[in-house]
Amino acid sequence: MPSLAVIGSQWGDEGKGKIIDYLDEKADLIVRFQGGNNAGHTIVVGDKVFKLHGLPSGVVRPGKLAVIGNGTVVNIEELLDEIKGVEEAGGSIEGLRISDRAALIMNYHKKLDGAEEKYRGKKPVGTTKKGIGPSYQDKIARIGFRAGDLLEKETLEEKISLLLPYKKDLMNMLDAEGCSCTVESLLDKMTGWGEKLGRYIVDTGVLINESLDEGKNVMLEGAQGAMLDIDHGTYPFVTSSSTTGGGICTGSGIAPSRLNHCMGVVKAYTTHVGEGPFVTELHGEEEESLQKKGGEFGVTTGRGRRCGWLDLVVVNHAKTLCGFDNLAITKLDVLNDYEELPVCTAYEIDGQKTRYFPASIKKLERAKPVYTTLKGWKGWDDTEALVKGGYDALPKEMKDYIAFIEKETGTPADIISLGPDRDETIGRKADWWN
Ligand code: GDP
Ligand code: IMO
Ligand code: MG
Repeated sequence: MPSLAVIGSQWGDEGKGKIIDYLDEKADLIVRFQGGNNAGHTIVVGDKVFKLHGLPSGVVRPGKLAVIGNGTVVNIEELLDEIKGVEEAGGSIEGLRISDRAALIMNYHKKLDGAEEKYRGKKPVGTTKKGIGPSYQDKIARIGFRAGDLLEKETLEEKISLLLPYKKDLMNMLDAEGCSCTVESLLDKMTGWGEKLGRYIVDTGVLINESLDEGKNVMLEGAQGAMLDIDHGTYPFVTSSSTTGGGICTGSGIAPSRLNHCMGVVKAYTTHVGEGPFVTELHGEEEESLQKKGGEFGVTTGRGRRCGWLDLVVVNHAKTLCGFDNLAITKLDVLNDYEELPVCTAYEIDGQKTRYFPASIKKLERAKPVYTTLKGWKGWDDTEALVKGGYDALPKEMKDYIAFIEKETGTPADIISLGPDRDETIGRKADWWN
């Protein structure tokens, strides 16, 4: 009955999609348990590139169940577009299952997301404008649609009649772009969604728990990253879901005792899309060159990602919240042009040194990184040869960098990723499930 969770340890885009795809060969189910199509997970298999948003990474491998769990938010229209894209790229959604408890993202949520950002004035969150926050707000306020509603016309009719006038008033008040739909037209549209996707909508909690009872392998696919967690991230510059350990249970319907393994994905440097404090951020040419070398442009929004040195205060915060058993270190190949690589191990705030990530944004803005500088592995740019040689044959400086991360986090780095492709990976364990 093993479960294996993969979680981002920074601000998202650590390479979770690639690592999940590398690990899920022996998985029976791949479950998304939080977030929505704000995520952008890239999987590269030979000449095929999949960019997944709301769909679990499992759709890339035939024969797997790809589960959208109860803790997610789902935009049905955008999901239908994504399904079309995946099918055209050679994937299959036959194994798709959507929780009847998953919250829906409506068009008005997207409009309200934009309007709320405007109201934040000079301090926007920098959201993906996918309607994630407003959809979760409605879930918590107990006025949201759930996927299961699409199967019950009567429930839909009741909810639409109640909610549509309220949402229209709200949009007017916030000066959001209005919506012309009526109760009848929205009912028609949503009934149509039910007809298209109804056969995939099930009680995924039962499915996942029964699969674990039967000894199947369940992979739990994290989206975003620990620093975007609604409680533990750089609030308010976060997403609206629990991206860390606790979110796995509430978002999939399994008990904490059923969590067996948790892997943290660590990008070898740090990136952050959107606003908020970023202690190890680089600026000017230094940032631009890392951004360019790493191809750091958002999969969902196309925005340039802010870039900086590896911050182990962040990774250790994530480790505490998720209980990582091991790490996957990605994008080490991107750092092959540096003589020296600073790694942040603590912050100095108002003359005091700390290894703990503070809650206060103001304190974070005053925090100065305390760096240990390691030697780079300049010139090692033949990824094929590096992967072929295996871990022991990696350049000494790269192994020292990895060993430093292992020592500072007290966690083994069992996957070393040296390129976007599934094959550009060194695994240091034979069995990920036991
Ligand atoms: P995710 O959101 O965590 O799944 O990550 P994204 O897909 O948003 O961003 C990671 C980017 O880095 C994608 O373009 C991946 O194809 C790419 N990538 C993943 N691992 C590696 C690696 O080890 N080296 C390089 N060069 N690229 C990688
Ligand atoms: P993956 O799964 C990086 C960021 C947004 C913004 C904040 C809130 O690909 O790692 P939201 O639209 O969620 O309300 O935006 O969260 N954000 C991400 N950043 N990777 C992601 O997902 C993200 N999903 C949301 O940029 O700062
Ligand atoms: Mg991403």
